[in-house]
Amino acid sequence: MRNILVIHGPNLNLLGKREPDVYGRVTLASINKELRELAKKNKAGIKIFQTNTEGEIVNIIQQEAESWADALVINPAAYTHTSVAIREAISAVKIPAVEVHLSNIFKREEFRHKSFISPVAAGGIFGFGKESYVLGFLAALSLVKSKR
Ligand code: DQA
Repeated sequence: MRNILVIHGPNLNLLGKREPDVYGRVTLASINKELRELAKKNKAGIKIFQTNTEGEIVNIIQQEAESWADALVINPAAYTHTSVAIREAISAVKIPAVEVHLSNIFKREEFRHKSFISPVAAGGIFGFGKESYVLGFLAALSLVKSKR
């Protein structure tokens, strides 16, 4: 069984209410429901976390990469543009990471054009709303498949 770890970063718990002109009306619960269904269909394991805390993201990556996960799908949200700690957690562990964003970060403010995470990710998917997660999950599955 391929085990995929999904991490949603800060403020993504507010999806649906948060800046709907940018992120749409989709809720985190509906994204997670779709990902769980996709995992089931592909006979994959899935664990999903959302946290607003940078250190907690580091802890989850370390713990789950060591004990359970074969690949990571992460939307680091605002930490994308600031976090050396999350970047180093991803490069420290052996599993591949797929970076996802709902919005096209390159179409937005300049401070969003820099990702600390992209250089250590296997790849990234951005700009497709909820579909970014679906595509990111499938990319993670195919990375594990091609590894084994
Ligand atoms: C985001 C883009 C980030 O710039 C922003 O800070 C977020 C969400 C996205 O999914 O589009 O919180 O990661």
